[in-house]
Amino acid sequence: MTPEISDPKEQLEAVREAFEREFERFGSFRPEDANSAGPSLAEAEMNLRALAELRTRHTGRKSALAGLKKMIGRLAPEERAAFGQSVQQLESKILAGLDEAESRLKAYADTARIERERVDVSLPGRRPRRGHLHPITIMRQRIEDIFVAMGYTVEDGPEIETDFYNFDALNIPPTHPARSAQDTFYTSDGLALRSQTSTVQIHAMQRRRPPLRVIAPGKVFRRDTPDATHNPMFYQVEGLLVDRHVTMAHLKGTVSEFVRRMFGPTTRTRFRPSYFPFTEPSAEFDFSCFKCGGTGCALCKGSGWIELGGSGMVHPNVLRSVDIDTDEFSGFAFGLGIDRMCALMYNLDDIRLLFENDIRFLEQFN
Ligand code: DAH
Repeated sequence: MTPEISDPKEQLEAVREAFEREFERFGSFRPEDANSAGPSLAEAEMNLRALAELRTRHTGRKSALAGLKKMIGRLAPEERAAFGQSVQQLESKILAGLDEAESRLKAYADTARIERERVDVSLPGRRPRRGHLHPITIMRQRIEDIFVAMGYTVEDGPEIETDFYNFDALNIPPTHPARSAQDTFYTSDGLALRSQTSTVQIHAMQRRRPPLRVIAPGKVFRRDTPDATHNPMFYQVEGLLVDRHVTMAHLKGTVSEFVRRMFGPTTRTRFRPSYFPFTEPSAEFDFSCFKCGGTGCALCKGSGWIELGGSGMVHPNVLRSVDIDTDEFSGFAFGLGIDRMCALMYNLDDIRLLFENDIRFLEQFN
């Protein structure tokens, strides 16, 4: 016995009901609701995909609706026209419903997209907290500005060096104590953390041939036990000028002018004979105390003078190490500590404060 074929009209009603049951939920999207309270953009987009899937399932070639259309031809001739018409009406209704829901959903998504991007320009802005420079940076930039105004270029060099840059090229003899592991940090493969920015003299002369004027600020490292006036890492500035007919008078004039611009126009400079392997002759220089003007106070420990750095005429061996003709060229060099100057200028009683990153300390330089 063949299974009973149900009534075509009943089948048509079943198809209509099945579609309407599933289609119902798409009625709720109205573009005017597309604000923060309504369904989200993602939800609208998800519904658009579900609607496309619904369309395929209910109107595609394998759909129940397509089945109804095939049935038309198998019906008795007198029933065919009326049933055909019903099927067609149902199909138009389904398609119209789908199209309408789709355009409503698309409109909803468009509006939601615009809403999402809306900016309230009347809202007050969120102001970023303003930072400020570290005291050492402030000092470094002041020094750089003074020398740049005198025609110097700011030069940079590596913080980790070979013996050539650290010592040999600077005319530091193999027996010099600075070469010992007691004073200098060595890596396991024989490199050293530079113990003075004088290393940049060598790099600078290799990079730019004379005549040249450079300053090189940067970190240096020494095996010191930290205390109020020492830190194993600190900052120096190196200066180097190489040209024709350079004399000690140029060195004295340059350093004196720097000191006047740094500490005030009445500041005096004093040079004392000294020794450095990379200069000959060598001199250390002091400046008249900016607090007492040279009469003597607690800051300058009663002497009226404050030590600032080392200097001298570049040793011919140093020039030779980078193949500069010492008959044609001579030069002067100087070096000074930035941290020490910082401690003096800001009256710090402990140099380590500069490296502890304590915000309560640093905020005072705002
Ligand atoms: N490098 C020396 C130091 O760390 C300072 C110095 C002295 C630098 C004399 C120079 C110089 O350029 O000519 O103590």
